[in-house]
Amino acid sequence: MKDQQKIIENIAKEIRRRFAKESSGHDWWHIERVWKMARWLAKKEGADLFVVELAALLHDIADWKFHQGDDTAGPRVARPLLSQYGVAEEHVAHICHIIKTMSFKGAGVETKMETLEGKIVQDADRLDAIGAIGIARAFAYGGYKNQPMHEPDQKPVFHQTKEEYFHNSGTTLNHFYEKLLLLKDRLNTRTAKRLAMSRHQFMEDFLKRFFEEWEGRI
Ligand code: ADP
Ligand code: NI
Repeated sequence: MKDQQKIIENIAKEIRRRFAKESSGHDWWHIERVWKMARWLAKKEGADLFVVELAALLHDIADWKFHQGDDTAGPRVARPLLSQYGVAEEHVAHICHIIKTMSFKGAGVETKMETLEGKIVQDADRLDAIGAIGIARAFAYGGYKNQPMHEPDQKPVFHQTKEEYFHNSGTTLNHFYEKLLLLKDRLNTRTAKRLAMSRHQFMEDFLKRFFEEWEGRI
């Protein structure tokens, strides 16, 4: 038990070092929020904390979006790192499976998690994509990708494959309709669904206000 705590601490330190000064909204503080949220959900839902904490810490280690759409990149980087820090193979396999499958890959693409631990880490990551922080991250990501904030004539697209979603050249406003507003219905645990309600409402209020200001109505 003490060993596991030490492993988590060491890996957290390593991830913090690697993710310092990241500017696409996938920075250390995103990882830290997901880690804390996942830990809290895991306690409420009775999941294996060791697996949940490590999967949360490593979930963005080599995100498929930043690796030409390759969803095997995450496990490929995570696996040696976990072994190097002394994590047993059964846990390594479970953690890598979570990292590979958890990411949102388009409105029409199923990303079902098989284990409670996976469901929890996916929920924690998704909660960080909605609400006030979700809004901030979406605009940070949009700026990082040089994508327009809003193009009134461009309609949202419901991507049916991960390739379509990956090659999307949309706007940040459309990302709300293509992903962020869908997330509340794609959470796994009751606890996360409950938390998502006010975060979701905040985005709805933001969008209403955005369009009112855009049209000069207020
Ligand atoms: P997930 O882990 O569910 O796959 P992502 O890593 O895709 O989440 O997304 C991380 C953050 O980047 C989210 O807050 C998300 O809203 C934002 N993001 C991803 N794609 C876009 C986009 N095309 N426009 C604006 N924000 C985006
Ligand atoms: Ni993430």
